[in-house]
Parts: sequence; structure tokens; C-alpha cells
Amino acid sequence: MYKILKAERLAEKIYLMDVEAPRVAKSCQPGEFVIVKMDEKGERIPLTICDFDRKAGTVTIVFQIVGASTQRMAEWKEGDAFQDFVGPLGQPSEFVKEDIEEVKKRKYLFVAGGVGTAPVYPQVKWMREHGIEADVIVGAKTKELLILEEPMREVAGNLYITTDDGSYMNKGMVTEVIKDLVVNQGKKYDVCVAIGPMIMMKFVCLLTKELNLPTIVSMNPVMVDGTGMCGACRLSVGGQVKFACVDGPEFDGHQVNFDEAMKRQQIYKTEEGRAMLRMQEGDTHHGGCGNCQ
Ligand code: NAD
Ligand code: FES
Repeated sequence: MYKILKAERLAEKIYLMDVEAPRVAKSCQPGEFVIVKMDEKGERIPLTICDFDRKAGTVTIVFQIVGASTQRMAEWKEGDAFQDFVGPLGQPSEFVKEDIEEVKKRKYLFVAGGVGTAPVYPQVKWMREHGIEADVIVGAKTKELLILEEPMREVAGNLYITTDDGSYMNKGMVTEVIKDLVVNQGKKYDVCVAIGPMIMMKFVCLLTKELNLPTIVSMNPVMVDGTGMCGACRLSVGGQVKFACVDGPEFDGHQVNFDEAMKRQQIYKTEEGRAMLRMQEGDTHHGGCGNCQ
């Protein structure tokens, strides 16, 4: 069992938990994720890793209430325990695997939208730990939905906060801040990392394509097994079939077919929709388990 050591409400419907999971904490890297299961009958819930403490053996997760399982999870307190806490899954962020001297030569711009701020945090923290000052934009619908402001301020070079309704700091969406920094202020970046709702990542990529700014996104389609077998998280990237859980979750944002990914996300919700996808996608529908008949 994986005990909850801290449970905290960050904002409306958004919660943070520190979970005792020493094996995951020992090996996880920024960019990876875990799949949790509350009990024997529980749904498998994929969650990006927000932080980890190798010494204490803990992993921090942040989640939003989106259905019955996450609603039940939000009611859990310190001392409750997950039956399964599987990970780390997926590939670490590219820069973790690169020569650090090459990474240091680049200027990074991180763009976090809403709950997507949680997976951005460990990446910016990693940068800070390696002596790299990255600029960070955090966007939230409104002041009350802004999360992790203080922790992010501690690790970011410059932090730009924006709210859609102007209730705190800048007014407008993250794309407006990118435009302001690059076009109006003439700031130069080599890489943009954008993580948030798919619609945000789509529009960030449309803009950064125009600005000639290479952009990495972290895709969060529906996931079931997290091992490349079920096909739930199938995406098209550069015209090729990819599975977010094993090939990603991070991809070259300029190559991702966001419209298809968003449409598939909707269709996948119903049994009829899944049957249609099986028919349309044929042999490439899943990674090979053959269990979806
Ligand atoms: P949200 O809808 O509140 O949006 C957050 C910010 O994204 C906005 O404040 C705005 O600045 C920007 N944004 C939204 N739409 C935009 C557009 N059309 N153009 C430009 N910028 C735009 O976000 P939320 O409610 O916190 O997000 C929830 C979604 O995020 C869920 O679908 C969840 O699955 C997803 N999510 C993704 C990841 C990931 O790894 N990609 C991680 C956690 C959550
Ligand atoms: Fe990725 Fe099943 S969740 S293939």
C-alpha cells in the first residue's frame, strides 16, 4: 500500500498529495507520470508527477476532480493509502537525457496552463538545480484557480502570471504573454515547453510555429494500461502513430495533430465510439494486446 502523508486542497477541485512511494521516488524524472488505483475495484488514473523527494521516498501528485474516482480521491486524507502506485511511466523530458552543457546553452520558456502547472514545476526545478534560469508563464482562468505560485517563483528565472479575466497580474491567455515577450519585448528563446489543456497547447503551437520557436508539449489523452498495449492514448505525430504512454508523453508540438487528438478524446468516451475507432484504425488501433473485442 502507498500511504498519503499529506493531502491538501490547492484550489477549487484541485488537490495535492504527498504519497509514500520510495521505489518510484528513487528513479522518477521530470516528464514522467504514474498510474494510481485506489483499491481493488478502482479505476486506473494516470497523473503527472509534480515533485519527488528521493531521500524521504515521497512523490507529489496533483489532480483535478473530473469524475467519480477523482471525487472520491479528493475526500481521502493523510493516512489513507492507494492500492497501486505504478511508475515511473513514459519517457523523461528530453533535456534530462541530453548533455548538460548543451542544455545550458539554450534559453527555455515554459508555458503552464491551469492544472498543467503541476507537471511544469519539476522541469523548472530541475533547471534551477542545474544552474539554468528558465522563464515561466503560468496561466489560470481566474486568481482562485492559480496553483503553485510560490514554489514556482522559487525555481523560475522570471515568472509571468496571467489570468483570463484579469483578476490577478496580467489579463489574457498565455499566448498573449508569449507574444508580448517575444514580439514586443524582443526576448529570444531556443525552446518552449507548453503543458496544459490540449486546446491551449494547440494554440501555443500555432503561435510558436509562426515565431519559429521549437515547442515541446506533454500530451494527456485517455490512458488505460499505460504500457502501450490498449491503444487508448493513440496520437498522430508527424503523420506517424504514437502512443503517449510509452512514446511520450512529450512530443514535438509542431508535429502533433491536435484536432485529431481532441476529437478522439471525445469519441473514446463511449462504447460505440471505441467500436468505431477500432474499425477505422484497424491494425494500428492498439499496441497489440488484442483485448478490446
Ligand atoms: P484552463 O481551461 O483553466 O486553462 C488554463 C490556461 O490555459 C488558461 O488560463 C489560458 O491561459 C490557457 N488557455 C486555455 N485555452 C486557451 C486557448 N484556446 N488559447 C490559448 N491559451 C489557452 O485549464 P484547466 O481547467 O486547468 O485544464 C484542465 C485540462 O488540462 C484537463 O483537460 C487536463 O486533462 C489537462 N491537463 C493536462 C496536462 C498535461 O500534461 N498536458 C496535465 C494536467 C492537466
Ligand atoms: Fe497508452 Fe494504453 S494507455 S496504449
